[in-house]
Amino acid sequence: MQSMLHGKHMITTQEWTKEELETVFDTAEELKRQFGLGIPHRLLQDKTLFMIFFDNSTRTRNSFEAGMTQLGGHAHDLTPDKLQISHGENARDTANVLSRYGHAIGVRHTVFGEGNRYIREIAANSRVPVLNLQCDIYHPFQILADLMTIREKFGKNTRGLKLAVSWTSAPNYVRPISVPQSLVLLMPRFGIEVTLAVPPEFRLMPEIMAQAERNAAEAGAKFQVTDDMGEAFRGADAVIPKSWGPLVHTRDKAEGLALINQYPGWVCDREKMELTARHSIYMHPLPADRGREVTDEVIDGPHSVVYDEAENRLHVQKAVMALTMGGRP
Ligand code: CP
Repeated sequence: MQSMLHGKHMITTQEWTKEELETVFDTAEELKRQFGLGIPHRLLQDKTLFMIFFDNSTRTRNSFEAGMTQLGGHAHDLTPDKLQISHGENARDTANVLSRYGHAIGVRHTVFGEGNRYIREIAANSRVPVLNLQCDIYHPFQILADLMTIREKFGKNTRGLKLAVSWTSAPNYVRPISVPQSLVLLMPRFGIEVTLAVPPEFRLMPEIMAQAERNAAEAGAKFQVTDDMGEAFRGADAVIPKSWGPLVHTRDKAEGLALINQYPGWVCDREKMELTARHSIYMHPLPADRGREVTDEVIDGPHSVVYDEAENRLHVQKAVMALTMGGRP
């Protein structure tokens, strides 16, 4: 149990030790229990979180705002057009000012090559914790919720569980690569054997892959890559198939969409789920592109835990906020 997390940024789970992350899961579990019992837990009374969303959001925006209310504080729902960011005010001035008014700053900025750099600049100029609400490289709160869900379904000892992280085809827009990158970084640290399935143009950033391999080696867990979705699914305990853009290959939107269209067979359907273990769970961070990434039969079927996974966003985020914004100074 780690008790000195006050003031710590959450930009990537890679910067948190396993012991610190265990503290997050223990706290999330306790807060989930209290939420279920209707026990007030106003651990952040009179505290303020500023949330700056450069991109749309349903889960992240609402789970953070609801979470702050439940913790007795308040979250400001901001977009660049509500701030002087729209007139060119830089990250340094924005962070210095907001961190004098409140107790944490959250940022979602997913533009490839810009988002993480912006959040790092906010953090470098903030006196209060900075929370990554998703950037171009990482989506830490999503994968904390994912791991919390896996622990709830399979138990806290996750060593040896087989997880398939697979690309899927969804040609309506080019999605960030932050979810699969965060998954391959975190899951092997908890002993989970990850197989990443990707067509060649959809590979992840080489430095993230290298770090994921080091994480797996240090934890004694297997980390494999294939270009065959079925191979990744065979015998898997959990599958997280989702779409992302070929951003490492090209930043051209039209070319990206054309590439996504080249692989229509990369869909999570009943045939793919039949390759997995009988007890397997289907996960997706949502929003899912129903009918293209996944069939209704699967996402609404007996393997699916997508709403538990979405709910756990609330609990892990409340845990990180309570520990970093409150807790022991
Ligand atoms: N999974 C996720 O981050 O959802 P939103 O984009 O709706 O926040």
